[in-house]
Amino acid sequence: MADRIGTTVDSVDHTRPETLEDASPSLAATRSPRVTGGTPSDEHAVILELSDVNAYYGDFHAVDSVSLPIREKEVTAFIGPSGCGKSTVIRSINRMNDLIPTARIEGAITYHGVDLYAPGVDPVEVRRRIGMVFQKPNPFPKSIYDNVAFGPKISKYSGDMDELVERSLTRAALWDEVKDKLSDSAYALSGGQQQRLCIARAIATSPDVLLMDEPASALDPIATLRIEELMYELKQEYTIVIVTHNMQQAARVSDRTAFFSVDVKEGQRTGRLVEFADTATIFTNPQHDETEDYITGRFG
Ligand SMILES: Nc1ncnc2c1ncn2[C@@H]1O[C@H](COP(=O)(O)OP(=O)(O)OP(=O)(O)O)[C@@H](O)[C@H]1O
Ligand SMILES: [Mg+2]
Repeated sequence: MADRIGTTVDSVDHTRPETLEDASPSLAATRSPRVTGGTPSDEHAVILELSDVNAYYGDFHAVDSVSLPIREKEVTAFIGPSGCGKSTVIRSINRMNDLIPTARIEGAITYHGVDLYAPGVDPVEVRRRIGMVFQKPNPFPKSIYDNVAFGPKISKYSGDMDELVERSLTRAALWDEVKDKLSDSAYALSGGQQQRLCIARAIATSPDVLLMDEPASALDPIATLRIEELMYELKQEYTIVIVTHNMQQAARVSDRTAFFSVDVKEGQRTGRLVEFADTATIFTNPQHDETEDYITGRFG
């Protein structure tokens, strides 16, 4: 796998980084310790910037002109009614939409200032740095150990694999539950454990952003709480974007919230961003009636 993902930036602006490596030479170096919790601070640097992002599936205009910044070491929540484009937008952030033949993204998404859609950018490398966890836990039909070691093996990780597996499982708050059965099938774990295994698998390749599309919607309340606590821990080190239909969850776990809605014009349902603000503002003092109607349950 290519380590550098290629030159990506127009030649005029020499102050901008030219590759993901230049933009973030050592991911570890960008991970300074943070004060835990609290209200979001503008001191957190913008790590991802969506500018005028439009998404299409064939001729269908699914998402209209979304612009928002995502700050590092925060949790950003995407909320809104079904079909408003939350999954489409979150997938566009690590180029997962590339895998859908009809999907097309217009506009720009920059990561550490690098345009992720510029020619020469390797989507595989993008997905290593910007990992994803899906709604339904999707462990591979392999052992617990091999699930976590899978990504590092592919990228020819040369360090101590046992140590990396232990560290990833510990960070995903699963180590104590599985340390005596690492060679058991991942399918023998409960749903909540499988989801934490998928989180361990995602962080084993040292991403710095984790995208989570409804990661707890298939889980019971206890497992959901574990995932929420885990997000709180993980944001000390990672930037997290989460899609959720659970308003309490968005209010509990996120620092900033983006509310999307959908307009119906000539039979087409096109999603758009209505409001983006810190989570406390969205939930206590939204600027748009549409947002208020949604979070109070009058709509959607
Ligand atoms: N692979 C696809 N091909 C064609 N249209 C799609 C595809 N995926 C999504 N869409 C359409 O794009 C629009 C946005 O879908 P998306 O899945 O992003 O919404 P969502 O906000 O995540 O919804 P939900 O809350 O139900 O998960 C919808 O109208 C949907 O039907
Ligand atoms: Mg969705």
